[in-house]
Amino acid sequence: MADRSILLIITGGVAAFKSLELIRELGRAGVKSRVILTKAAQEFVTPLSVSALSGEKCFTELFDLNDEAEMGHIELSRSADLVVVCPATADILAKAANGLANDLASTAILATDKRVLFAPAMNVRMWQHEAVQRNVQRLRDDGAIVLDPDEGLMACGEFGPGRLPEISALKARILAELTPDTSLSGQHILITAGPTREPIDPVRYLSNHSSGRQGYAIAEALQARGAKVTLVSGPVSIAPPNGVNLVPVETAQDMLKACETALPADAFISVAAVADWRPAKPAKSKLKIKGGDEPVALEFVENPDILKTLSHKTKNRPGLVIGFAAETNDVEAYARGKLEKKGCDWIIANDVSGDVMGGMNNQVNLITKDGAERSPNASKTQIANWIADRIAKALS
Ligand code: C5P
Repeated sequence: MADRSILLIITGGVAAFKSLELIRELGRAGVKSRVILTKAAQEFVTPLSVSALSGEKCFTELFDLNDEAEMGHIELSRSADLVVVCPATADILAKAANGLANDLASTAILATDKRVLFAPAMNVRMWQHEAVQRNVQRLRDDGAIVLDPDEGLMACGEFGPGRLPEISALKARILAELTPDTSLSGQHILITAGPTREPIDPVRYLSNHSSGRQGYAIAEALQARGAKVTLVSGPVSIAPPNGVNLVPVETAQDMLKACETALPADAFISVAAVADWRPAKPAKSKLKIKGGDEPVALEFVENPDILKTLSHKTKNRPGLVIGFAAETNDVEAYARGKLEKKGCDWIIANDVSGDVMGGMNNQVNLITKDGAERSPNASKTQIANWIADRIAKALS
């Protein structure tokens, strides 16, 4: 752990003094702590005691000219491998969940490109309040880690969940987060995402509403496990995850070509919403279709099925081929049919019968030749991690 470090944000709760012990314990494991104290936290611990333990200057002010000259808040937020908010008050959870940035701590949480781990500690009624639970859920949906507090007698005399977990447990969790997951290192994974665009003429096209979010989240989760990821993507408005090899394409035919060029791969995951049909003869110049009473006919031809094509390759077939399917009823039966039809190894069936479409959460069924597993109802990031864990296990 010698080269690992955290940015520790201490907020103003009675458990703040325990974070001093955390700094010392992490230091023993070789992990450096760079610390931000909020204004309220300074009522419980002083910058002097923090810097004595961390061996570094303690940061308190957003608009400190010295700090901005030495290290701006953006750099500070990204200088560590993990951001830890301990203890996390109801206030910082609310700010982070809503994207507020009105002091150094909340700004750093918003500006960081690292994972953020919150260790909440507060009065039991505050913890159980709907508003706090809503904020916790929102942060988890956004990909943050929010630990559940311990149960027990609290400083205020009440009993229940709200206590900061033991420092030994916090240390173990932080060390686990700092240990890189290399379960997919050495593996090349090819993934498609987003919609395709099928031209009608130079200015018009046929497409669909796929946002690319689930595919991009899976690419990120695979990359975080050490895989070399090639992401062949139709046009989307989201940024690709850091470190993946993005191959932008427009049409289904281009997508197939890009996939074939990217082979060999250890696994292929077909998340893209590929248009099944394309206009047979895209016009070379803009079609003039105004004015007539007669319906206008557009002729279509079938697009190649990328999943089916790669599944049936005799040379260079990826060892694990995964397709996606959105179903509203008889999910497992339809997914099994698709498994057979496409010749792939797994189908990840998206159960869209509830409020999944357009909602924050998602739920999938993983259908293999000889089994089925249902994921929990969770955010797209959590679903991506759930899928990536199973791919890592299958490829190991
Ligand atoms: O047959 P259906 O479109 O429901 O199958 C969905 C699965 O097939 C998805 O994994 C999708 O990426 C893939 N697909 C494909 N090429 C097509 C159509 C669908 O790869 N032309």
